[in-house]
Amino acid sequence: PDQYGVFGNPIQHSKSPIIHALFAEQTGQNLDYRKYLAPLNGFAQSIHQFAESGGLGANVTVPFKIEAFQLADVLSERARMAGAVNTLSFREGKIVGDNTDGAGLVRDIVLNARCPIAGCRVLLLGAGGAARGAILPLLEQNPVRLDIANRTKQKAEDLINLAKREISGGAPIPMQALSWEQLNGNYDVVINATSASLHGDLPPISASIFADRCLAYDMMYGDQVTPFNQFATLAGAQIRDGLGMLVEQAAEAFWIWRGIRPETLKVINALRPRVG
Ligand code: ATR
Repeated sequence: PDQYGVFGNPIQHSKSPIIHALFAEQTGQNLDYRKYLAPLNGFAQSIHQFAESGGLGANVTVPFKIEAFQLADVLSERARMAGAVNTLSFREGKIVGDNTDGAGLVRDIVLNARCPIAGCRVLLLGAGGAARGAILPLLEQNPVRLDIANRTKQKAEDLINLAKREISGGAPIPMQALSWEQLNGNYDVVINATSASLHGDLPPISASIFADRCLAYDMMYGDQVTPFNQFATLAGAQIRDGLGMLVEQAAEAFWIWRGIRPETLKVINALRPRVG
């Protein structure tokens, strides 16, 4: 079978091998996808070894997405804008880098949660790597505005300036950087791209930011409902966690490698922990 894998550190808990095995089974593709623990100071070497031994593609996860960006010989536009790479393809001796995270987020919101982003007021919480990868794919959907709130406001401003430089043509979509204190608008889609949930934390947001029938999306997921989604539920919002995004970014990588789009809903449901 054709060889693929996911490289990270730690990697033990990665669900990517299960996801890709389900995709392969569903589409009748003959491939083998494994997880690889790359040493913290040996990512590039691990990738080169894998490619030389016949590997055709790799996903990259924490903490190597920026190193993967630097390692790639060729970058897609969305990888360039994200400043990070999560999908590598090894083609004719060249390493091609792409980033499917933002596209995965948008597909999960629009197709799976059936919440159109077009015409919506969108708020992104956080201005780190996860937020950066989401901006262009969100703007491509034509929201009426996209604001970014972050603990460190300057980083939100930097991201907006970067996005403005990248967008060419068309009517500009209003974008504003906000500190937590300045955040008092009302939004149809609120996306938590901070890593606060990782520490069991919640950005200091007010319930009033969630518009009627708002979608609250936490990029994190786990067996427990995240603090952000708990708060959003109390505020009356619909919630969704990052499991769908995880499966969608994998499907997008599968599409790059195999030219076939797997069906994702079945896979998301298979991975969703059963409650009760
Ligand atoms: P990632 O790749 O997951 O985005 P990152 O680049 O380190 O990780 O970015 C983490 C983001 O979460 C940042 O926006 C960070 O805010 P700062 O830019 O002010 O550091 C945000 N963040 C992390 N912990 C947080 C917390 N406890 N409360 C609010 N925001 C937090």
